[in-house]
Amino acid sequence: MATKPFFLLYTLLFVSCLICCHCHEERKVHIVYMGEKPKGGFAVKSMHHSILEDVLGSAAGAKESLVYSYGRSFNGFAARLTDKEAAKIQEMDGVVSVLPNTILKLHTTKSWDFMGVTIGGTLRLPTEANVIVGLLDTGIWPESASFSDQGMGPPPAKWKGICHGANFTCNNKIIGARYYNSEGFYDPTDFKSPRDSEGHGTHTSSTAAGALVPNASYFGLANGIARGGVPKARIAMYKVCWAFGCGTADILAAFDDAIADGVDVISVSLGGPPFPFFDDVIAIGSFHAMKKGIVTANSAGNSGPYPGTVSNVAPWTITVAASTINRKFIAKVALGNGQIFIGNSINPFPLMGTYPLIYGGSAPNISAGESGDISRYCYPGVLNSYKTEGKIVLCDAIWDGSGVLMANGVGVIMSDSEYSDFAFSYPLPATLISVEDGKQILEYIQSTSDPFATILMGETIEDVMAPTVVSFSSRGPNYVVPDILKPDLTAPGVDILASWSPVAPPSIYYDDPLRVNYNVISGTSMSCPHVSGAAAYIKSVHPNWSPAAIKSALMTTAMVMDPRKNTDAEFAYGAGHIDPIKALNPGLIFDASEKDYVDFLCKQGYNTTTLRLVTGDKSTCPKPTTIGKAWNLNYPSFALSVIDGQRIWGVFPRTVTNVGTPSSTYYASWSSSYPLTVTITPSVLSFSSRGETKSFTVTVSGGAISQQFISGYIVWKDETHTVRMPLVVFTMLPPTNDELMAAHVRRSFDGLSRYRKNGKLGAH
Ligand SMILES: *[C@@H]1O[C@H](CO)[C@@H](O)[C@H](O)[C@H]1NC(C)=O
Ligand SMILES: *[C@@H]1O[C@H](CO)[C@@H](O)[C@H](O)[C@H]1NC(C)=O
Ligand SMILES: *[C@@H]1O[C@H](CO)[C@@H](O)[C@H](O)[C@H]1NC(C)=O
Ligand SMILES: *[C@@H]1O[C@H](CO)[C@@H](O)[C@H](O)[C@H]1NC(C)=O
Repeated sequence: MATKPFFLLYTLLFVSCLICCHCHEERKVHIVYMGEKPKGGFAVKSMHHSILEDVLGSAAGAKESLVYSYGRSFNGFAARLTDKEAAKIQEMDGVVSVLPNTILKLHTTKSWDFMGVTIGGTLRLPTEANVIVGLLDTGIWPESASFSDQGMGPPPAKWKGICHGANFTCNNKIIGARYYNSEGFYDPTDFKSPRDSEGHGTHTSSTAAGALVPNASYFGLANGIARGGVPKARIAMYKVCWAFGCGTADILAAFDDAIADGVDVISVSLGGPPFPFFDDVIAIGSFHAMKKGIVTANSAGNSGPYPGTVSNVAPWTITVAASTINRKFIAKVALGNGQIFIGNSINPFPLMGTYPLIYGGSAPNISAGESGDISRYCYPGVLNSYKTEGKIVLCDAIWDGSGVLMANGVGVIMSDSEYSDFAFSYPLPATLISVEDGKQILEYIQSTSDPFATILMGETIEDVMAPTVVSFSSRGPNYVVPDILKPDLTAPGVDILASWSPVAPPSIYYDDPLRVNYNVISGTSMSCPHVSGAAAYIKSVHPNWSPAAIKSALMTTAMVMDPRKNTDAEFAYGAGHIDPIKALNPGLIFDASEKDYVDFLCKQGYNTTTLRLVTGDKSTCPKPTTIGKAWNLNYPSFALSVIDGQRIWGVFPRTVTNVGTPSSTYYASWSSSYPLTVTITPSVLSFSSRGETKSFTVTVSGGAISQQFISGYIVWKDETHTVRMPLVVFTMLPPTNDELMAAHVRRSFDGLSRYRKNGKLGAH
């Protein structure tokens, strides 16, 4: 275990280096955030220029330093500054905050059918073509069949975006594309254009809004019609991620443009650790988006299953966990003695016949100074290729297959119990079995002078346990704002087939020479665009719904998940699994506007200064602010944190808007796994028209709890609608050091998904 994740640590080192290695007097990119967009035809750029001129002492210096002028949706700029210069600007009038550029990480087909969004049987309105999904990602491959604009008219009139980049052509499907790289650093693999060299952005875009593509598969596996949630909607790509990661100055620039360009939904499959909102450009950018009625969906992160790992937790966004669909990829191993083991792997390569089988621990490269203690893991360079050539190698750790490939092995069996609920693809025939099965295979190898085996071509099987939240999906509670339950909901994020960049390696081995147009990958990065697609779908039917209304509809109609399969329950899946068709008709919605979020931030202890760091406008907190709970934010879930040993007590005022049957009566009920006292007043709500609002209060009380959390729910029902809101009462224990360490190591699952030999930060 000590040596196993060494390549994973690379990724962490590299991140801290980009942020801090040359901190001293060198000029680094900083974000200077100046709040709301100035009214009138104000020349923001010249304002930014003169600030820089003041500090740097010359017009030429200012020109050279300025990286971006943000001024289309909010005010601010990015510039290369020393720490001293940054501190000076921080003191200037009109400057809300100065943040260092920080590098964040990137965190089908079957999945839409799984959610009941079928090709023929689903309501589709012509207005779908008016909906624009903007994605902040690694770019897009415009020639992919998923982005064909066949049958599509010109972009909607409201569209103000552009298509910018050499050798990159938009069409009526991809109607906008821009790219941002404030670090100015390009890997040889990076295209200096919105073109995607990683695959990630092509995958997320096609998941959200890809056209119908028959006969898509990964080398024949998972064959079917690939499509996005809204096949007729438009895509705008804002490329902010490069081989080194995704810069926060670039992310903010992309929000500035996307909002002004006129997108309807913003999909952000990337992030860092949980930040306070005033340091979090995704929270800041999405706040401005929310003010303009644009809903932002973001990934919860891939740092699970440890508690408190969920990131991107702003209540004005939708935070998405990842769960399985009813399709599982397996690859079997058959031994010479007739034993068969089932492993997890996306293995499209048939091994013709059987091959000799060898244990990696018996094949160390002694002349390279290796011993069996290391070679058992089959890392690159540790095996003796004379011994492994032409053989199947049994290894004691999951790896990308490259060690065996380089040592001329024909296949690899890896025993590792850690990544058992999703599958990777590898550059050679490979499968991943449990540690127990690995022991049995080793016994077989040791029991005969002539061990042999074969790895069968992979299959897809029905996963009757689906949906369950996958292990890597980040979990609550929400340590930034304990009063808001996060993640909000879950969506398919495991083994998702979608379009891929044909220059990117498909497997987790970075030097994999194979090339594909469709690939199967996993991550909360993959679940997020399912929610973006679902939000776009709702928007096509209800163009005037606010971001809060869309989120509410998705949450209160979500499919109820089974806590026996995910014992961390709501901390894994929030309100449950999205059901886009049901979300069209939620009956009641919990709406919220900027004012509500400002009130929420004030109650969280933000003062006027820190509040404006987020809102960018002249919002104020009432004086004196009563710092308290965020219980009165009109949120479609309830989170009550209690100090260990204290009695449970919480009061949650809520207001619902009738968007269902004009004349309807709803009755309240509740349920919980533990003796709580819950009162809902009033417990009957009668509406006489659509758009009518009614308020109610939920009071929760009880004795001190002896367990970490209590799950429950509150539900409003009329004859046709069930409006369900999860309720969680939990003790607010900070994560232990062990949990934090584990989360750190696990966070580098990202590294495993797209491992770069040179130790650079990867995708997913
Ligand atoms: C444009 O990009 C495609 C895809 O990488 C490449 O095949 C082609 O050669 C490029 N054309 C030019 C003129 O650079
Ligand atoms: C489907 O794709 C496979 C390879 O990906 C190809 O061999 C086959 O001919 C295709 N079938 C149809 C009907 O296009
Ligand atoms: C052992 O490792 C050395 C150094 O990496 C390498 O050059 C050599 O080819 C390896 N030997 C075998 C038999 O794989
Ligand atoms: C506002 O809060 C910040 C951070 O908590 C603090 O540093 C600052 O002094 C406060 N400002 C005022 C005016 O109270």
